[in-house]
Amino acid sequence: MDSIIVRGNGPLSGQIPIAGAKNACLALMPATLLSEEPLTLTNAPRLSDIRTMRQLLASLGAEVTELQEGKVLATSCHGAINPVADYDIVRKMRASNLVLGPLLARLGHAVVSLPGGCAIGARPMDIHIDALTALGAEIELKEGYLHAKTRGGLKGAVHEMRFASVGATENFLMAAVLAKGTSVLKNAAREPEIVDLAQCLRAMGAEIEGEGTSTITIQGVDRLHGATHPVVTDRIELGTYMLAPAICGGEVECLGGKIALVESFCEKLDAAGISVEETATGLKVKRKNGRVKAVDVVTEPFPGFPTDLQAQMMALLATAEGTSVLEEKIFENRFMHAPELMRMGARIEVHGGHATVHGVEKLKGAPVMATDLRASVSLILAGLAAEGETMVSRVYHLDRGYERVEEKLRAVGAHIERVQGE
Ligand code: EPU
Repeated sequence: MDSIIVRGNGPLSGQIPIAGAKNACLALMPATLLSEEPLTLTNAPRLSDIRTMRQLLASLGAEVTELQEGKVLATSCHGAINPVADYDIVRKMRASNLVLGPLLARLGHAVVSLPGGCAIGARPMDIHIDALTALGAEIELKEGYLHAKTRGGLKGAVHEMRFASVGATENFLMAAVLAKGTSVLKNAAREPEIVDLAQCLRAMGAEIEGEGTSTITIQGVDRLHGATHPVVTDRIELGTYMLAPAICGGEVECLGGKIALVESFCEKLDAAGISVEETATGLKVKRKNGRVKAVDVVTEPFPGFPTDLQAQMMALLATAEGTSVLEEKIFENRFMHAPELMRMGARIEVHGGHATVHGVEKLKGAPVMATDLRASVSLILAGLAAEGETMVSRVYHLDRGYERVEEKLRAVGAHIERVQGE
């Protein structure tokens, strides 16, 4: 397994290009199952999670070809479709459950493995099941697989989710676009990735209104056609790299960044003493003056502070002046990075869903272990600010969501290298 070695150093300077969003692309790719015609995705990120989705779609009978070194994904699904999403692939990546809605819409039946637990929480599927059941699906759990079928196809319906789940909103959207009649989803998730999916589906001929708000209305159509769609910028990769100059000083411009994607995050950066300026090409970030100040953070569904930036924010606050409290409201077990940061000298107490971070002057390099994707990058950020060398092991988590992280950080002056494992 590869490791990453980071040596704490001085200010960073330069530009970092931000890729297309992993979590948008993982929802857009299954949309190919909805049409016989090709769907081309441009600005795709080159990540291991995207390769896992390619593998899953191929196992279902879709074709996915990488063009321009993986930046363009040409997908199509015109032949026979296998309705079974196998446990061997689904257990590797939860987002595999996003084939359930499109398979049901196209075939009227699907068999999709339940993903099982993951490092950050139990992550059940009940909200997805309720949403698809509202559209007329009958879903049963047998031997670890969800067996879903419809009697005469999906039918439009009004449904309110008990929580604004991102994945369940995506599955509902992809099912409802081919259902008979009108569907209304209330308490829908409002994340930019949902807006991106709705825009892509609309380019394929779907009739959707209200994406980006809590109520989405979908008028079912008989068929969807092909389209070409650019994947939206990755707001989590953006936020992560915005923290690099915040943590070690200097000024970095994140190319392709927009405040609208990270507004609540920028509010917290402002309170912590970090300035963010929107330019014609991206977001320029630097410290306003002196040491970063403590701020309290609560993670919430969009437009609130994203859970996917909580670990990275904790790395920043570990060396802030004063005490910060971070409250994690989306996942029940998402502080696994705290004990690793403590190995680097951070002073953190975790009580249930709260972490209290007492800022220290300086972190110290140490060997640490990545437990999940966002935790791994938070350790790299902490390493950039620490004295001495930090070795982050188990970086396969990192490769799921960050493309060429060493290259991007080296380009702005960071001392970082990958050591190939056995
Ligand atoms: N939940 C349920 N039942 C459900 C669905 C969700 O109880 O049927 C709970 C989950 O257990 C969790 C909360 O609701 O506690 C939020 O889950 P949600 O469904 O909104 O998340 P997701 O669709 O599984 C996506 C991202 C995650 C991101 C979350 C929250 C993708 C592929 N994944 O997951 O990304 O943290 O939304 O914003 O879009 C990451 O990229 O590191 C990552 C984990």
